[in-house]
Amino acid sequence: MRKNEKKQAKLWEGRFTEATDPLVDQFTESLSEDHCLYHHDIAGSIAHTNALARLGLLTPTEQKKIVSGLTAIEKEIAASGLFAQSTDEDIHMYIERRLTEKIGPVGGKLHTGRSRNDQVALDVKLYLREKMQQIASQMVLLQKAIVGQAERQIGVYLPGYTHLQRAQPVLLSHHLLAYYEMIERDKTRLDDSLKRLDQMPLGVGAMAGNSFSIDRSEVAVELGFSGVTANSIDTVSDRDFIVEFLSASSILMMHLSRWAEELILWNSSEFKFVALPDRFCTGSSIMPQKKNPDILELIRGKTGRVYGNLMGMLTVLKGLPLSYNRDMQEDKRFLFDTVKTVEGVIGMMIPLVTDMQFNTAKMEAAASDPLLLATDLSDYLVLKGVPFRETHKIIGQMVQASEKSGKPLNEWSLSEFQKHSKLFNKDLFFILTPKASIEKKSGPGGTSTASVKAMIKKIKKLL
Ligand code: ARG
Repeated sequence: MRKNEKKQAKLWEGRFTEATDPLVDQFTESLSEDHCLYHHDIAGSIAHTNALARLGLLTPTEQKKIVSGLTAIEKEIAASGLFAQSTDEDIHMYIERRLTEKIGPVGGKLHTGRSRNDQVALDVKLYLREKMQQIASQMVLLQKAIVGQAERQIGVYLPGYTHLQRAQPVLLSHHLLAYYEMIERDKTRLDDSLKRLDQMPLGVGAMAGNSFSIDRSEVAVELGFSGVTANSIDTVSDRDFIVEFLSASSILMMHLSRWAEELILWNSSEFKFVALPDRFCTGSSIMPQKKNPDILELIRGKTGRVYGNLMGMLTVLKGLPLSYNRDMQEDKRFLFDTVKTVEGVIGMMIPLVTDMQFNTAKMEAAASDPLLLATDLSDYLVLKGVPFRETHKIIGQMVQASEKSGKPLNEWSLSEFQKHSKLFNKDLFFILTPKASIEKKSGPGGTSTASVKAMIKKIKKLL
């Protein structure tokens, strides 16, 4: 407890003979974290008063009084934060106490047929539903930024990599759209988990149900849920919706971290494939020449933090018997920290992706290495009837000969090619360019200009 503070009465103090130790207050409180649930707590409480009024457990006057008290508290918190002297245990206790201070003992009727166990489950579901929808909208903006770049860069090519070794030439747009696909899957993971979250928990009381025949379905409709939870015990012990969000966030962060790592490489003097806008870079306190990709490094770094939150949450839950256990209060820090981190990270990626400049000359020069066309040469012989395993060997020997002599394959004469296979003909020179290699990959999912343009068209209809 802070100095000069008057200790507030506990709403549950009836059966206690002495006040809780201040150390216990400090140790058990969650108000410092869960205060951001105030809006959802009040929305849930208002819906609850409607249910109580329908049953005659609140008179219309009492209900009106409670609702206007709650609305005033919401405005008060929105305008100036929490009541300064508060030592309440959590946001639910805070609001209920303020309500009684404001409107008198009738405020004490609000908690009829409800427990903090179902109340907190509802608040978190309402909060998370809103946040997941917002994050999904941010994902769409990121996808739009990716598609915008893909459209602008159509025609530009670079080496595609496997094992971080140059593999085959690909369109830059195709490469960028790979990230679109990852974000698309991330979005579907959120949508999918929103479906399971969509069961309204309020009205199951502490764990066994409520004795007042509260119509939970009406509360569900009022709060925008499509149904109610089926089992009271499961309802107050369930935090799967948080675990699912943390898990979907971890996968999203893994994707963004991989992209960040790639962009850090592309931004290095060794690659120089990309130039990040100055306003998204930072300098060094000692080396004047430095322009560091700290934002991307932090995105990579914050991924560890989000994984940690998932592990923390799973670990809190793993040993809990049914149903609600106070351990579960620890869910807040994992959840809120992840929401803040993910919102911040996508918020950075959107302008960064929109504004990054590609060094297309550098990319195309790197993709002009004729060794990237070895597979195309092999395909050429396959089309002339040579079994693939044999062509693989022939081309392998040609690569070896080229490396030994220092003469790149695209400078070889026809007779040099024919030393390795009589089936090589003049037409082979048409396929020995990155563009030709790219345009041949014209099936769905391939890197040809036509396939990529078709993909962009399809995506733009979806976004
Ligand atoms: N602050 C608690 C939490 O976040 C609310 C529920 C507490 N319930 C109780 N019976 N102590 O989980």
